[in-house]
Amino acid sequence: MTRLYITDMLRAQGRHISFHTPGHKRRGADITELSYSDDLSDPKGVLALAEADAARILGADRSFFLTDGSTCGVYAMLYALRAEGVRRIAVPAYAHRSVANACEVLGLSPVLIAQDAAAGIPRQPTAEAMEAALRGADALLLTSPDYYGFFPDLAAARALCTAAGKPLLLDGAHGSHLHGEALHASRFADMWVDGVHKSLPAMTQGAVVSAKGAWAAPLAAGAAHFRTSSPSYPILASIEYALKFPKNARLERLAAWAKQQLGALPNDDWTKIVLPFGECADAAQRFLERRGVYAEFSDGNVLLCYLSPANKAREVKKLVRLLRDFPRGEMRFAAQTSDMAGGNVVLLPPEAAVGKVCARACGMVPPCIPLLLAGNVVTADAAARLARARHTFGLTDGKISVFAGE
Ligand SMILES: Cc1ncc(COP(=O)(O)O)c(C=O)c1O
Repeated sequence: MTRLYITDMLRAQGRHISFHTPGHKRRGADITELSYSDDLSDPKGVLALAEADAARILGADRSFFLTDGSTCGVYAMLYALRAEGVRRIAVPAYAHRSVANACEVLGLSPVLIAQDAAAGIPRQPTAEAMEAALRGADALLLTSPDYYGFFPDLAAARALCTAAGKPLLLDGAHGSHLHGEALHASRFADMWVDGVHKSLPAMTQGAVVSAKGAWAAPLAAGAAHFRTSSPSYPILASIEYALKFPKNARLERLAAWAKQQLGALPNDDWTKIVLPFGECADAAQRFLERRGVYAEFSDGNVLLCYLSPANKAREVKKLVRLLRDFPRGEMRFAAQTSDMAGGNVVLLPPEAAVGKVCARACGMVPPCIPLLLAGNVVTADAAARLARARHTFGLTDGKISVFAGE
């Protein structure tokens, strides 16, 4: 039986009167650093044991638990790069917004790797595009897998970085369920983050950032800079639980069957069922919700159903029953790039911005990747999707930043 060091410690607690934080003063798992509960910033007890097990499971030399999501892991990795002298980093044009934010905060210059988004979904960059961007950068960061279950050419990325003597980082916010498998980040990267709260059964915000070799020391400094000094023990316990949760081969087979039954887009990640409902995607989401079934998101083009080994087989079968005959619409949105118009930037409501050139990347939350990049022409479809979206980023009071033009 696998030991769960943090859970066992929490279960073994005696009743006590609390003259310590947190202020709710309730007994239970939500405690602070006490004589028996260790300290994440300098672990020597149960947290050291749990992090050492995590490193073994994840194939790392050092792993650091994060209770602040993969976002914190991205910041910690980029901090480590900066500390080792990196100034320019090649990143996918459609990277998660935390990457651009961390570059801004840390003074790193992002060199954008071109990505095609012709079918309405960003495609992973080609090896040629990675190579071109890496020529002008000191490090390479890729998203693997992405929200839609696509992987970059990891072997090519590793070979490029090894040949150039530059580090490879992987944002594995969606890939922790792959640990021990051929496509897991640990097989290729120098540093990577595993978003255990997304594709393994950890509580929201549970993540792990890991490193190999000499990157462990600067990454430790990065984690120390960006982690909260009051980590949540329920989240820490859930990270350990999630990493030790058994694989679910039966569910993986069922997911493959469901994808085939539902005409999902082919991808290499069993946890992401990407349903190309096109203009019916929002209606499909509402249809499911009225029946008590919630998908990860509709981006107005695809409906994304996100699984983990903790899903039940009967839930996947129900999804297939409900959606098999649901009507489908056209897949939309081909990004058009214009020669980057310069000049004054103005804010316009989406409908008035159609035909103008976008000046600041913006998109829906989730998936938190740009729908429009700076330099894209604002299409009527993109404007409509942004106007309809419940939550967005990169807009100001619902308005798109565009170049005014003449
Ligand atoms: C590719 C990618 N990277 C990083 C993150 C940030 O993860 P978290 O929400 O755990 O901070 C996300 C979140 O959706 C993501 O999709």
